[in-house]
Amino acid sequence: MLLFIIVSKLLSTSIVHFLIPAAGSGSRMKAGKNKLLIDLEGESLIYWTLKSVFSASSTNWVGIIGQPKDKNLLLNSAKDFAQKVHWIDGGETRQQSVFNGLKALPKDAKKVLIHDGARCLINPELIDLCAKQLDENEAVILATKVTDTIKIVDNEGFIKETPNRNYLWAAQTPQGFLVDRLKKAHMMAIDKKWKVTDDASLFEMLNWKVKIIEGTSSNIKITSPIDLKIAKLFVNNY
Ligand code: C5P
Repeated sequence: MLLFIIVSKLLSTSIVHFLIPAAGSGSRMKAGKNKLLIDLEGESLIYWTLKSVFSASSTNWVGIIGQPKDKNLLLNSAKDFAQKVHWIDGGETRQQSVFNGLKALPKDAKKVLIHDGARCLINPELIDLCAKQLDENEAVILATKVTDTIKIVDNEGFIKETPNRNYLWAAQTPQGFLVDRLKKAHMMAIDKKWKVTDDASLFEMLNWKVKIIEGTSSNIKITSPIDLKIAKLFVNNY
């Protein structure tokens, strides 16, 4: 009976490959090192990210994309998870790092979730939800409804426009894609010299559909010191 339950669970789970961009310099954090090495309640940020990723049932292959100079430090701070991850050298920008990750995926990889290493509070159930939604969509992203009123501002610091808040969502990761489509989008971006800060943007520029999945506001990206204080409040609940 137990075997039947395990097999049924495996069959009903959507399996994805998982890439973690972790090759940033963390300059806004002013930590003097890769921010993913910063301590949060006794473990590094990358450790917490990996803990969630390996708690999800949909992830069967996990790659960390980092700068070669950070390799030993990141893997050491990942502790037991270090044996289970594949190391990939990162690039100068996030976009280049993700492209390196895509090239390093095994040939049989069909679906990929890309998740910023700095979003260390991701809930494993949301990872599985993104994976599941990729059964029906070519591209999905987690996002939350914007609660602030957002202003578009000119170079002199004056407001130009206030977009209708009902249509505004804050993009998060994971962002999930069919591997072939995302590779194609990245190659077209290189050709056309497009610069983007997330992968969904490439799909938008190509007029390819991206499905929004409503996430949670606890899935913050650790960017500046205040985020670490907020993360401390959340981390013990996971
Ligand atoms: O700079 P930002 O916080 O937007 O970076 C998002 C994620 O992309 C981080 O996890 C960071 O480590 C990663 N990154 C990368 N390669 C770069 C720059 C950023 O993998 N060259």
